[in-house]
Amino acid sequence: MKKGDLFTVQIESLAFGGEGIARVHTEQGDFVVFVEDTVPGDIVEIELGSKKRSHAFGYVRTMVQASPKRIAARCKHFGSVREGGCGGCSLQFLSYGDQLGIKEQQVRDAMMRIGGFAGDVVLPILGCKEPWYYRNKMDFSFSRSKEGVLGLGLHVKRRHHDVVEMTECFLFAPYAGAFVSRMRDFFRSLDDQKVLDDEMVLSSLVLREGKNTGEVMVNLIVENGEVNFLSDFTAMVRDFFKNEVETSQTQVRKLTSIYFTHIRNKKGQRKTFEEIVLWGEPVIHEVLQLEDGVNLSYEIHPQAFFQPNTKQAQLLYGEAVRAAGLSGKETVFDLFCGTGTIGLFCSSKAAKVVGIELNEKAVLNARANAERNGVKNIEFIAGDVLEKLPEVKEKPDVVILDPPRAGLHENIVRHVADFGPRTVVYVSCNPTTLARDLQLFCKAGYTLESVKPVDMFPQTYHIENVALLRKIV
Ligand SMILES: C[S@@+](CC[C@H](N)C(=O)[O-])C[C@H]1O[C@@H](n2cnc3c(N)ncnc32)[C@H](O)[C@@H]1O
Repeated sequence: MKKGDLFTVQIESLAFGGEGIARVHTEQGDFVVFVEDTVPGDIVEIELGSKKRSHAFGYVRTMVQASPKRIAARCKHFGSVREGGCGGCSLQFLSYGDQLGIKEQQVRDAMMRIGGFAGDVVLPILGCKEPWYYRNKMDFSFSRSKEGVLGLGLHVKRRHHDVVEMTECFLFAPYAGAFVSRMRDFFRSLDDQKVLDDEMVLSSLVLREGKNTGEVMVNLIVENGEVNFLSDFTAMVRDFFKNEVETSQTQVRKLTSIYFTHIRNKKGQRKTFEEIVLWGEPVIHEVLQLEDGVNLSYEIHPQAFFQPNTKQAQLLYGEAVRAAGLSGKETVFDLFCGTGTIGLFCSSKAAKVVGIELNEKAVLNARANAERNGVKNIEFIAGDVLEKLPEVKEKPDVVILDPPRAGLHENIVRHVADFGPRTVVYVSCNPTTLARDLQLFCKAGYTLESVKPVDMFPQTYHIENVALLRKIV
């Protein structure tokens, strides 16, 4: 088998990452090929691309027979890599039910293949009631075409320098397409008038909203250059929300905050960030509802992480708290705590909660969130979990971890195991690093009881999980 060879294959399943998986039968045995933009059941003629020892990548030359599972995408910007489709979604060609089935199987595969666990440790997936317009944050990027035309939108699949000239987005909000189109026109006119100086790089425009509060934050991020259009920009944004959103949406969106983030990034100089509130408040708020009906209100700074799917975050955190099995007497560690979301969810059911988070702005938000919700039994430590965890004096009964995609440093697993909590709850957005880390916990004296997949990101291949580990006594 070599690059350029042609094969006709049937797609068997989807990999975590969204590529179709097919097998090519050779005299040396079966060879796995990952094929982009395919769904299980497609029969395709593929051309072999790059080849590794155990697998290869293939590109569709001809669709021999489309899978009966294929459906028409809702968004006009959805498309394959070859068609220059929008990189925001990868699974719109499957029904939501099929997406859920595939994701659950991917988690099971990762647990079995990477973690060496039995498949039945994976519980049925928890899907979204609303698989559209669920995101509360979207980063729209600027680009410059070869012809010099300024663009603003989401990245084209696999082409990180190009953006889709998008006019609709079913992941964020019905007004997103109109907003991006208006902003694109605004920046193109600045470009035509030579207002953007040569040193300036327009980076992105971030829209964030509280799904349960309707508060909206707009953040323009620019690198270098002298920026002299901010009052016109502010007026444009305010005008958009006045005329087009508050009158045309069923749920009123209230523009609350306009930010400008100026990054200075010059050779030989330290990179700096300057954040300016151009108009309105320094934070927006989101409300999350606990299962017992209590509302928790969170403030969110532009730099702070907040789960991008508000409705599903409520269910995800509910799963995490249930897994923690709290009686009111426990000390809980909430590691990688962001703005304190999970810790605050736990606080009414625990004696004490200690959160650790690297991002200092998020820690300030977390402390403010505790205060605004009248929670007194929680404290937050700013810093790297790896450094701060061994310094904590309390001994936890329960540890909840929610690290970024790369998962845990093995020393964090060791530190947690040294504390010896009876329960460890691991919230993860990456089944492969989760499976690896769960195996480390099992080697350190824990047993894996369950993994609950929760779909936070319909139409994309991403999948969140809540794993429950218990100390072997
Ligand atoms: C997936 S988010 C989870 C945040 C929070 N649990 C939530 O649900 O909103 C991961 C968080 O870990 C933080 N983080 C990344 N590396 C870290 C480290 N080494 N030590 C502490 N926090 C870290 C990030 O800033 C981010 O807030």
